[in-house]
Amino acid sequence: MLGNFSYHNPTKLYFGDESLNYLKDELKNFGPVVLLNYGSGSVKRNGIYDQVVAILREAGLTIVENPGVMSNPTLEKLREGIQIARENKVDWILALGGGSVCDYSKAVAASVFYEGDYWDQFWLKQQQPDANQKLLPVGCILTMAGTGSEMNAGTVITDAEHTFKVGHVFDDRLMPKFSILNPKFTMTVPDNQMKAGIYDIMNHIMEQYFSDFDDNTSDYLSEGLMRSLIVSSRIAVKNPQDYEARSNIMWTATWALNTLIGLGKHEDWMVHMIGHSVGAWTHAPHGYCLAAVSMAYYRRAMKPGLAKFVRFAKNVWDVRGEGMTDKQIAEAGLEALKKWMLEIGLPLTISELGATPEMIPGITRGTICYPAGYLDLKPEDITEILTESM
Ligand code: NZQ
Ligand code: ZN
Repeated sequence: MLGNFSYHNPTKLYFGDESLNYLKDELKNFGPVVLLNYGSGSVKRNGIYDQVVAILREAGLTIVENPGVMSNPTLEKLREGIQIARENKVDWILALGGGSVCDYSKAVAASVFYEGDYWDQFWLKQQQPDANQKLLPVGCILTMAGTGSEMNAGTVITDAEHTFKVGHVFDDRLMPKFSILNPKFTMTVPDNQMKAGIYDIMNHIMEQYFSDFDDNTSDYLSEGLMRSLIVSSRIAVKNPQDYEARSNIMWTATWALNTLIGLGKHEDWMVHMIGHSVGAWTHAPHGYCLAAVSMAYYRRAMKPGLAKFVRFAKNVWDVRGEGMTDKQIAEAGLEALKKWMLEIGLPLTISELGATPEMIPGITRGTICYPAGYLDLKPEDITEILTESM
């Protein structure tokens, strides 16, 4: 384990089909006016909204509602939420939804008391709030597994006007104070979103795993998480109501991106950079955008990262490797990944998401490029990857 690091994750988790019972205990830790952020209606249709609001009312809280947080939340919606929070002098924020609602809530929480241009400061300039800036506390009730937003400080926002999607990872003051993870809440997630979430989890692990060559405990944890996800995903796509599989997927999602498996690692995240730009142009589910560019990306990364791809093939996909060269083993690992993606029903091309050749220059421009993982890509490489992914 090389590298120096500190580790602190302040998010308290409540997990399981009875986890919502703990919400009333948490309410005692926050003020009386809560901003309740939620999406475009699923929580009303499946009854989760009613359960949550009953608990908030019982505790005598004033609820300020902010519905309509869309998938891939926009800057325009962020501005609206900040205004609502300011006007109503809310004490804290409760996110009720998937990663989009959780991300959005942290973004509002970071910006309410910032007097300047928060978009420029936090997302375009990637600055952290000053030590003395007030931030609102956030709690999450998660309804979809995938992003890990429930236990990290990530906030991905789309500037729809400029077709630009960008994430900012805040410092740990913006991590949710608590998150409630009830796998039963994820049972009503549409089939395509469940699959997108599964690949998002897989790719979060891969983004951290495919960097460096030292022997690092983080990689063993990653391999275990990937193996668990492969098993549970195969069960969940056949039977989405399988509680055991859905609960494992939800728990894996949290550990895939709560900073643990990135410890001591340089990490990659270029599939996410390309995927975010594809998402800004196509509005496709986040995990689908990652899936659609992954094969072209990892085929490229395999050459400089060969030893790690051999390990991936053997330890994650059980490629035995006897009588094979390292290159053949690594290729067999990527082939196994591709077979699993097809089995799950994931898109392998960006054209399936509605991308056209005319969009490629714009998607390339919107991709943030930096040396990462085993590659140092330039815009022309991004164009090639996108063209191969058509
Ligand atoms: O709008 P509602 O009604 O809530 O419907 C949502 C949405 O349409 C629906 N849904 C969620 N839970 C449901 C449900 N439908 C029925 N029953 C339920 N229980 O599913 C759709 C997708 O939800 P969304 O929250 O958008 O999905 P996800 O959790 O994948 O979040 C995606 C966002 O997170 C960002 C992505 O870029 C994207 O903007 N990410 C955040 C990260 C982080 N914080 O670290 C990292 C990720 O890499 C990712 O970039
Ligand atoms: Zn992701």
